[in-house]
Amino acid sequence: MIGPLVLLGGASTVSGAVDALFAVITANAILFSLLIFVALGVLVWRYRQGARVDRSHAPTHSDMVELVWTVIPLIIVLGMFVWNAFLYLHMKRIPPNALDIHVVGKQWMWKMQQPTGRWENNELHIPVGRPIKLTMASEDVIHAFYIPAFRVKMDVFPAQFTTMWFEATRPGEFHLFCAEFCGTDHSKMVGTVYAMEPAEYEKWLREGSNQATSVQEGARLFRRYGCGGCHGAGSMVRAPALEGIYGRPVPVQIPKPGVPLDQINATTVLADTRYLHDAILLPEREVAGGFRPVMPSFKNHLTEEEVFKLIAYIRTLSADNPAEARKRDITNSLTEEDYKARTGFVPDNVKKMLGESGGTR
Ligand code: CUA
Repeated sequence: MIGPLVLLGGASTVSGAVDALFAVITANAILFSLLIFVALGVLVWRYRQGARVDRSHAPTHSDMVELVWTVIPLIIVLGMFVWNAFLYLHMKRIPPNALDIHVVGKQWMWKMQQPTGRWENNELHIPVGRPIKLTMASEDVIHAFYIPAFRVKMDVFPAQFTTMWFEATRPGEFHLFCAEFCGTDHSKMVGTVYAMEPAEYEKWLREGSNQATSVQEGARLFRRYGCGGCHGAGSMVRAPALEGIYGRPVPVQIPKPGVPLDQINATTVLADTRYLHDAILLPEREVAGGFRPVMPSFKNHLTEEEVFKLIAYIRTLSADNPAEARKRDITNSLTEEDYKARTGFVPDNVKKMLGESGGTR
């Protein structure tokens, strides 16, 4: 089994498992097709017109036959399902130590940015033996990021982040494709992944270290668009503080047409990349619990790439002291009176959350 699988050119930690599953499913399909066609051929020949065979006592049904053709396929497909599900979950669960690389797709090219800020078009340099996490968005239509040798593929959407991860097992150059028809030059939206030995990768990274990092660029955008004017400490406008917000649960209210905001219960969402992205581009969708919906949309002002950078910067606002940051959770850090003083009202279930957490501060 291993021989042919290596010949197929897999080069990631999951490629062998994906190939094995694919081979088993294909073998099953071939085996059962053969069984059916052979049985069909034999019976057609045997009972053809004019053949001298015993046609009396034709069986009308057989419990044993029905059981066999129900139970055996059931076991086989359930087996495939369980195997598939475990592999799928493994491929969805991003290892915490993964190297964070940003990808932006646009008609018709890919732009990749390393954590150090070094960026490249239609090329992706990665170290082998280390999990790589891609966070991806599109500037225009739906694309799909596909590295066949790693057996990974993920859609890339406008106004939404998607992620995927992989770990290369050997150095080499591998094809990179857009796998979603995205317009005239879709077929030219291709590139190369360079998997390198870690030392070589470090050297490559240093060669291009003169660009600003995502975090530095994000900080610059944060100033340029005046985000601190509302979100900064001591600002006059009531907006949630961003320090320590990343990676923690925050209350939001989801506006409904015709219902006043203060009558809508808050729900809790995780302030992750998806949340911050939407909060910047689609602020009307989720309003920070207890705050007025005054955040303007930056949909037509910021590119997806700039949103990446802003989020990279906002993440660093939490990185100084995660334990301390967790304590400053919005729901924990404010008493009901604080909430009211800041926002003029307290949604019912925020009231409840505040009651449960005891409003420690
Ligand atoms: Cu992008 Cu096809």
